Amino acid sequence: MSVFQRHAGQHGEVLNVESVAVPDIVRAVGTPVYVYSKRHFEHQYAAVSNAIAGCGTDTRICYAVKANSNLSVLRVFADLGAGFDIVSGGELARVMAAGGDPARVVFSGVGKTTEELDLALKLGIDCFNVESVAELDRLATRAELLSRPARIAIRVNPDVDAATHPYISTGLKENKFGVPAATAIDLYRKAASHPALVPAGIACHIGSQISRPDPMIEALNKLLDLVDALADEGIELTHLDLGGGYGVRYREEAEFDIGAYGARVRAALQGRQLSLSVEPGRFLVANGGLLVTRVEYLKPAAETAGRQFVVVDAAMNDLIRPALYRAWHGVEGVGVPGDGAIDGIWDVVGPVCESGDFLARERRLTVAAGDLLAVTSAGAYGMAQSSNYNTRPRPAEVLVDGDTFRVIRRRETPEDLYRHELAAAPGGPR
Ligand code: LLP
Repeated sequence: MSVFQRHAGQHGEVLNVESVAVPDIVRAVGTPVYVYSKRHFEHQYAAVSNAIAGCGTDTRICYAVKANSNLSVLRVFADLGAGFDIVSGGELARVMAAGGDPARVVFSGVGKTTEELDLALKLGIDCFNVESVAELDRLATRAELLSRPARIAIRVNPDVDAATHPYISTGLKENKFGVPAATAIDLYRKAASHPALVPAGIACHIGSQISRPDPMIEALNKLLDLVDALADEGIELTHLDLGGGYGVRYREEAEFDIGAYGARVRAALQGRQLSLSVEPGRFLVANGGLLVTRVEYLKPAAETAGRQFVVVDAAMNDLIRPALYRAWHGVEGVGVPGDGAIDGIWDVVGPVCESGDFLARERRLTVAAGDLLAVTSAGAYGMAQSSNYNTRPRPAEVLVDGDTFRVIRRRETPEDLYRHELAAAPGGPR
């Protein structure tokens, strides 16, 4: 299913998101702008939900807030019944602001502060995915002090190669995440004997943009060995949190076979009294988003030393994935190219003062100054990883639903960016 289709408009074929023409959004909101499709989010959620149905005594999708944390996006998933995977107090605040249920929240991450633990304890989140001995000790102290028993899972590092980009691999023993199986057993023993801790589950997350189910199933089997070893000691876990991000298609990657994954998880959990949660981010949102940008200038080969540049009004601060991971995003014209368009092989670059500021390299495009371009697959880790580098106000965000759209985050202004700073103007605070 693609929610992005070209339809004939007044000025030829234009890109639509669901039933809304992208130029209509740009006329109202300007560029650069992130545009998301609600229908795509719902479709992907249903795909995961169907795939894991019947795996274990209960199943839950905990949307990984970090992928796209706009309140309206969180709201879409809350309305579908999702729980949330968070990694900070800020993300927890967002979940609450979006009307999410804290009782369906799991808290991952290696560096939870005392303040963050306290907030999560007071709100009564479902589970803390504990990643170190020191964190377990801190959580025990805080839970006891606040008289709020904490349900915990130990995040195990299963030492499985997820075969993904090194920056987004999390389950190898050299990664900072989780603890090895032997340490996990010690932590469960400790938790079981502590009055304020409830050893409820076991968790792992082996990486992101994983193309095949195999490494996740390998991790799952390692976790189940641990569940059995703990049961032998009388520590009965009831919950399994199987993290590992299902890959999406940016270019020509194979679609992750979510159905096959579900079938294998179901078979592995057959006959066990374990509930299952998964924590997808990218799979739910990546291909439901575009970053729409306008061409400011062309620098054709005739005036450069060889390469040709399309200079657009979006930049690495808006979408850092190409600069950070050399990630590939599609770039396509939104409408018919403007007068004087030049066909060629172009680098699509932004105005930021860094040579790493590119959105795409060596793409065949027929393009004119003033054209609108859409950067595809930008729904995950796009706006969520944006910054204000070069004092660039971040883009607006728009959510399309059928034939209507809504601004779900207004464009920032320069004043938004220095609001928290002391003014140095004469007469201003010093
Ligand atoms: N749960 C945990 C504990 C995680 O660390 C992550 C991602 C997820 C869930 C969601 O994984 P997903 O389903 O999105 O693959 N910025 C990078 C991705 C970093 C992912 C880090 N952890 C990118 O733009 O590709």
